[in-house]
Amino acid sequence: MFNKEININLDFLQTKSPQLIGVDISPSSVKMVELSTNGKEKDSYRIERYTIETLPRDAMLDGNIVNLEAVGETLERGCKHMGTRLKNVAMALPAAAVITKKIIVPANQREDDLAFQVETEANQYIPFALDEVNLDFQVIGPAPNNPEEVEILIAASHKEKVEDRIAAALTAGLKTVVMDVEPYAAQTAFELVERQLPNGGEDQIIAVVDIGSTVMSISVLLNGQSIYMRDQPFGGNQLSQDIQRCFNLSPEEAETARRNSELPDNYKKDVLDPFCESLAMEVARAVQFFFSSTQYSEVNYIFLAGGCAAIPGLDEIVAARAQVNTLIVNPFTDMALSNRVRPNLLGADAPSLLIACGLAMRSFDPL
Ligand SMILES: Nc1ncnc2c1ncn2[C@@H]1O[C@H](COP(=O)(O)OP(=O)(O)OP(=O)(O)O)[C@@H](O)[C@H]1O
Ligand SMILES: [Mg+2]
Repeated sequence: MFNKEININLDFLQTKSPQLIGVDISPSSVKMVELSTNGKEKDSYRIERYTIETLPRDAMLDGNIVNLEAVGETLERGCKHMGTRLKNVAMALPAAAVITKKIIVPANQREDDLAFQVETEANQYIPFALDEVNLDFQVIGPAPNNPEEVEILIAASHKEKVEDRIAAALTAGLKTVVMDVEPYAAQTAFELVERQLPNGGEDQIIAVVDIGSTVMSISVLLNGQSIYMRDQPFGGNQLSQDIQRCFNLSPEEAETARRNSELPDNYKKDVLDPFCESLAMEVARAVQFFFSSTQYSEVNYIFLAGGCAAIPGLDEIVAARAQVNTLIVNPFTDMALSNRVRPNLLGADAPSLLIACGLAMRSFDPL
């Protein structure tokens, strides 16, 4: 995929970012984060407020919104819970909803000539009619072999997917001002995590493994650039199903009982431990896949993100199985906390807030 240096952000709507809420609409929940800075040091953030609002089970399918009303209501509830006054939001599309392509064009063109050329080129690469897509492009820099040319990144996504997210936000009285792409938003926030490593993580091969409800995604980074990305179907829903089967509960009862630690004594031994073992096996296998599909043969760190990363002791189980130093993602470690944010809760929620945090950081893009 694309490296972070080129700073791809799918800003269909505008390039300026007023203060905004980072909103991650994922299958299990809507996550919202609001940050501030002290203005002088751009990189010293404070977390003002955040929330994770559970979504009804049928609201999303494969990263698409299927129940607009439910998502809108959940967003509205989120704003209320956070007590925010902000109305502008940054959202992201799943990687699968976005097609990207690099092209080379002559340098020093007028903006409208460039836009025309991008459209012409896009026509060849994008498998939909252009009036069905949102098209955006960004000049990456001079072409590698010819200073007379520039390299351009084109990003396109099906209009419907963008419009559904914008419409859900509108239902809740929110205005979408930034549309990013999920892995890029996660990478933006991960820079805060990487900084905490010795030497800022320089020359270290870092696997960020996000284990959510349905998908386990691995993204390998080296010096801030993505060198490998892969998704596989595995996640916390599997644990929920195991709980349902073992204790004869409905999906909702299973989630509530797990969350409130109200499961029978044999839960850990008979359900949670085997789940953690298979999760660790999946991670180890994903790392092996990375080795066999690239020239690399080493990973220096594994960082666990997503809801499942909150399972106590999971880092040790993964470290033992994969034989790699394993840590839990927390992009807020170096941030100041407003008095509305409870440190214990934030600690547990942090790994699943990576994308929402990266989106909230878009508030502070240079204007
Ligand atoms: N403490 C915990 N122990 C076990 N599982 C947990 C815990 N906290 C959250 N989960 C699980 O994490 C999952 C939610 O994680 P997350 O919010 O990252 O997923 P998502 O982003 O909605 O889904 P995906 O990334 O798969 O598209 C749920 O399946 C939930 O059961
Ligand atoms: Mg997720």
